Amino acid sequence: MSKENKVTDLQDIISHAKEYGFVFPSSEIYDGLGAVYDYGQYGVELKKNIQEYWWKSMVQLHENIVGLDAAIFMHPKTWKASGHVDAFNDPLIDNKDSKKRYRADVLIEEAMTKIEDKITKEVDKAEKKFGETFDKAMFLQTNPNVLRNKEKVATIEARFKKALEDSNMDELKQIIVDLEIVCPISGTRNWTEVRQFNLMFSTQVGAIADESETIYLRPETAQGIFVNFLNVLNTSRQRIPFGIAQVGKAFRNEVVARQFIFRTREFEQMEMQFFVRPGTEMEWFEKWKETRMAWHKSLGFAEADLKLHKHIKLAFYANAAVDIEYNFPFGFKEIEGIHSRTNHDLTQHQNMSGKKLQYFDHELNESYVPYVVETSIGLNRTILAVLSNSYKVEKLEDGTERTVLNFPPFLAPIKAAILPLVKKDGLPEKAREIMNELKFDHLCFYDEKDSIGKRYRRQDALGTPFCITVDHDTLTDNKVTIRDRDTMKQERVDISELRRIVGEKVDWRKAVK
Ligand code: GAP
Repeated sequence: MSKENKVTDLQDIISHAKEYGFVFPSSEIYDGLGAVYDYGQYGVELKKNIQEYWWKSMVQLHENIVGLDAAIFMHPKTWKASGHVDAFNDPLIDNKDSKKRYRADVLIEEAMTKIEDKITKEVDKAEKKFGETFDKAMFLQTNPNVLRNKEKVATIEARFKKALEDSNMDELKQIIVDLEIVCPISGTRNWTEVRQFNLMFSTQVGAIADESETIYLRPETAQGIFVNFLNVLNTSRQRIPFGIAQVGKAFRNEVVARQFIFRTREFEQMEMQFFVRPGTEMEWFEKWKETRMAWHKSLGFAEADLKLHKHIKLAFYANAAVDIEYNFPFGFKEIEGIHSRTNHDLTQHQNMSGKKLQYFDHELNESYVPYVVETSIGLNRTILAVLSNSYKVEKLEDGTERTVLNFPPFLAPIKAAILPLVKKDGLPEKAREIMNELKFDHLCFYDEKDSIGKRYRRQDALGTPFCITVDHDTLTDNKVTIRDRDTMKQERVDISELRRIVGEKVDWRKAVK
């Protein structure tokens, strides 16, 4: 299926996701709750399949990675030690005319991307003009427009990095002013000052407010892994290097959350902390960068829709960090972060708790606090990427259109639809027999309503790889028609072959091998 059919309008994707039971606005009968979403009957299956694939890829395929399921509530000291109480902030700015609130750092990054885009356009233009004789390297070094824009980006980048490092909100505002950034809604430059805003949700434990303590809804799952480092080490027979993986909910009071399930206040992370010997962390950082990029490609994302983005500003404890970005309908944005976090978190928890969080390395005959390379991916963002990548409106040869979600088969919510051609003559009973056999292996869907054409279209729109049709001949020859979602080709096969055919097509190993 060609890429031209891909739908790139986020609104269309949101409408399709709602109409076909993938994603609903939360508590919609009360007009919804900002930046919170519910997953419908097919969304929950897609989510489960992505999560399961991540878990299998990380835990099942790596003997040196084990799983964990830590509680959402943690001792409040956890968040003091991790630095979240004091420094888990976003710099925010309001436009006084539109009354819209933005993240100052995002406004600046977007403005820098626009300048970089100008350089790319300039190069493309020259490439078209000069054809084969075009010397790109020379052009980049000599063209006055390119040089001016390159210098502009470098200057802003240096100022931006320093402002973030110094938490200098006045300077962030000044960069916004100097870049002449306008509010996309009001079109004006009437900005407030930039202020810091802590993103953690807090609540109380205990029935009586006075006696209770403030606790937080975890803003990342990673800390549950750090505080369990010793428990896992002492009970799992793992030796360094080894990893602990976890999938779970995280909560952030995001102020700017306007891109559907891309940025929400309640979301799920799939994180893995890989504990290594100090000094080997860069090697592991490179390895995990490659491994995770290959995983994203295995979801069917084109190489051109993925890129690595090196962090401009490293957290003070990190010595390397990179984002894997996907080309969402609103541009390249982070889907996963890979961070070399040194021994910061374990050391902080060791200091705060007074418990030794160390590893005795028999080869070196010494104890140390291990270094950590983290891979942290958002499950909801991955769902959005998979939906965006799969949603196509295709023009057919007869002039009609069909909407299809061409999910990789192992991720499809429904694997096969069982369809009796008509609702009589014993066809439903035969179809039920097939359904009752296949449902032990896969989620299948039985449907006898509407014309067969309409039923095919509905399954295409849900992303079902196979439609199995039972007709009158089935009753005598024990064969059915199996229709492939992507090619729309129909083949007549023996009922006894169905388990094998469907099973092979939806096998997740195909993605990793
Ligand atoms: N433990 C590291 C950590 O939490 P992060 O870059 O803040 O790093 C990791 O988050 C991933 O979690 C992101 O790449 C993104 O996919 C996902 N994520 C973060 N905030 C999110 C939000 N508000 N809504 C949805 N996903 C989010």
